[in-house]
Amino acid sequence: MRWYSGVQIGPTSALARTWVPAMVPWRATDDGEVTSAVVDWYARFAKGRPGVIVVEATGIRDIPSGPLLRIGHDRYIEGLRKIVQAVHEASDGQTRLFIQLIDFLSVRRRPSAEKFFRRYLKISDEIRRRAARVFGSSAENMSGDDEALRAVLLGASEEDQRAILGEREWESLERGYRERVTDVHLPQIRDLPARLPTLFADGAARAMKAGFDGVELHYAHAYTMASFLSALNTRADGYGGSREERVRLPLEVFQAVRDRVGKSFAVGARFLGDDVVEGGSRLEDAIYFAERFGAAGFDFLSISKGGRFEDAKRPKEGHAVYPYTGPSGHECMPTVKIDERGPFGRNIPLAAAIKSRLRELGHRTPIVAAGGICSPWQAEEILAAGDADIVAAARQSLADPDWFRKVRLGYGEQVRRCFFTNYCEALDQKHVEVTCQRWDREFDVDAESVARTRDGKRRLTAPAWSPER
Ligand SMILES: Cc1cc2nc3c(=O)[nH]c(=O)nc-3n(C[C@H](O)[C@H](O)[C@H](O)COP(=O)(O)O)c2cc1C
Ligand code: SF4
Repeated sequence: MRWYSGVQIGPTSALARTWVPAMVPWRATDDGEVTSAVVDWYARFAKGRPGVIVVEATGIRDIPSGPLLRIGHDRYIEGLRKIVQAVHEASDGQTRLFIQLIDFLSVRRRPSAEKFFRRYLKISDEIRRRAARVFGSSAENMSGDDEALRAVLLGASEEDQRAILGEREWESLERGYRERVTDVHLPQIRDLPARLPTLFADGAARAMKAGFDGVELHYAHAYTMASFLSALNTRADGYGGSREERVRLPLEVFQAVRDRVGKSFAVGARFLGDDVVEGGSRLEDAIYFAERFGAAGFDFLSISKGGRFEDAKRPKEGHAVYPYTGPSGHECMPTVKIDERGPFGRNIPLAAAIKSRLRELGHRTPIVAAGGICSPWQAEEILAAGDADIVAAARQSLADPDWFRKVRLGYGEQVRRCFFTNYCEALDQKHVEVTCQRWDREFDVDAESVARTRDGKRRLTAPAWSPER
């Protein structure tokens, strides 16, 4: 099978074209440190011996970010090295290990109306003017007592509140405050192009020190770099607007990383073949970005789709908006309910179009495709058609990390198929330990599994498998 043939990824050769994409399992400490549970999680994937595993989105800044893995300081290197060692050991040296480097902007929880109007809302002249208009008074009357105006706004009808608040203020009330790359009036946002190249380069250098085979720059989904690439990025400082300007920072970040780690360390990116949201980038933009990435010498390009904040569902009060809850999120992690086509391979045409253009231009950059892959026949068809060079599977590998090996060794009938109903994703959304609904009961009769099943709770890694069973 082509899927089990080797592939060169920049300076690294993977022994198979099987790939486990980044998946956050929420097992780090609150300080972003690697725990033994994180090590076990990756060692378990490694037992299935995929060609490549990409470690979850890992924060490049040294700032509190809850139990998200971090690489923003040298103190993280030691812990990350444990993952590298465990993966090399569990896969008998057959799996290459990359780590996904992420930067993200601030997202706050949706506040209560009380908190929003009494504490967060800045009473501007514009708000006073609109309030005067809505309440039939004069703006001067509204200018005196802010506390009184706050109380009036809190008690006003939703329609009146909406008419008085600006679009962003209304969003902050309805969904919680969220920074955007276009908020250039904020110094930390204005300075992103000056700061991010170094932050990413520092993260990549630490990944190299920890022994990883490469890094995947996270240019996809709802996060900072994808937002620079998005057509919604209207920055006027040379880093937004036209495609040429939107791709500038992603290229500068890559160059800074490359300059730091050299050519002996794989540096690739995951980015969107389609933002899906209204006004966002489409496939034509993605093809243009890929052309630039190919020319710049990215070692691989992994294509994803959607997963944006803009169309996410309104969160409950006290919760943060989550980028995988709207139509773009459904395209990112499609379930069996998405439509009559189902989740199966639905992002492949994006990868195929990008790959085809790169080859026309003579760039050999390996293209990684993912999305609803759960059978070796799909993978083989994609590779045979030349639609991608590497076929990745996230949830199927979560459901059964041994599936690559099972198929290869002739135990295909034992593969635990993913249901694609996103039980795992619901846990991810709550930022609690991700597990799979297919992991217990069926297998909890053997001694090892029983030992790992904690008081009726789901096990934290997939049940053990070996070919002799
Ligand atoms: C629990 C969970 C966590 C994920 N975390 C990440 C992540 O950290 N970075 C990323 O690029 N994609 C992440 N994804 C998306 C997957 O990598 C993948 O693109 C998506 O699930 C579609 O592929 P699949 O159909 O093979 O699952 C996550 C998916 C799941 C289910
Ligand atoms: S929880 Fe469901 S969707 Fe997630 S990996 Fe398991 S079977 Fe697949």
